[in-house]
Amino acid sequence: MKGIILAGGAGSRLYPLTQVASKQLQPVYDKPMVYYPLTVLIASGIREFCLISTPQDLPRFEQLLGDGSQWGISIEYRKQPDPGGIAQALIIAESFIGADPVTLILGDNLFFGGDAFPRAIAGFKSGAVIFAYHVNDPERYGVIEFDAKGNAVSLEEKPEQPRSNYAVPGVYLYDNDVVAIARGLQPSQRGELEITDVNKEYLRRGTLQVQRLSRGTAWLDAGTSSSLHEASAYVQTIEKRQGMKLGCPEEAALYRGFLTLDQFEALVSGMPACEYRDYLAELAAEVKRVGLKSA
Ligand code: TTP
Repeated sequence: MKGIILAGGAGSRLYPLTQVASKQLQPVYDKPMVYYPLTVLIASGIREFCLISTPQDLPRFEQLLGDGSQWGISIEYRKQPDPGGIAQALIIAESFIGADPVTLILGDNLFFGGDAFPRAIAGFKSGAVIFAYHVNDPERYGVIEFDAKGNAVSLEEKPEQPRSNYAVPGVYLYDNDVVAIARGLQPSQRGELEITDVNKEYLRRGTLQVQRLSRGTAWLDAGTSSSLHEASAYVQTIEKRQGMKLGCPEEAALYRGFLTLDQFEALVSGMPACEYRDYLAELAAEVKRVGLKSA
């Protein structure tokens, strides 16, 4: 399974923050936003990544994340010149995807808790797997309607009259048919290639699986000033209480075995003196004492 992180878009709702740095580079408490979706996929066992962003922002992501080898992964970069829609990412990344299945994650979607993604990715066989999450304001998202047996029966993008409270979060697992499906899409009324149209095609084929995320998983999106602030407050609250960091790619890479303890310690020793380094150094010491205990 390969991974695509989509980190383009206009970020207009975060103006003026996004005048000089894209939304996914903004801090969510103590780390850049893109660390969180990247960590979700590393923790799910994905090692090969493609990050897509605007031509202006791409060099900043490359500066931040490099080729990924420091975390035992690989990261390629592709440009999206205009925000032509989330599904356009699947066409832009066609040569990266090759003959493999792929998980697409949105760079401003933050997930905490639960093991739905590692389980879905490890068990993925064919078709598409998307998720459903109960929200207060479904009209802002793609909305799924279920029948009495719990099967998905309809999908609508930002409906005025939502048929349920189940929104589709920004993590999508697809088999290799997805490239041809994305290539066959027509732009929507707002001029975008819609990811909901990709999912509808899998629904039509009878190969769309929808998994409900339990209330044990928190899904936050950080697209507005107040939701960005709330996401930071959430991360700060949990990290302070538990003494464990969220969205830490080094830690996920260590737990997944993408880095040996020696490589991890070498990485940490190259960091400037800071709270992030102290945390990772303490983690290395703990692993030496008690071994790896995935949390
Ligand atoms: P949105 O939040 O819907 O759009 P945006 O980021 O452009 O923000 P705004 O509405 O404030 O202008 O996008 C969801 C995610 O998908 C976000 O991480 C950006 C990304 N995206 C792209 O990378 N390319 C695109 O063409 C679109 C539509 C979104």
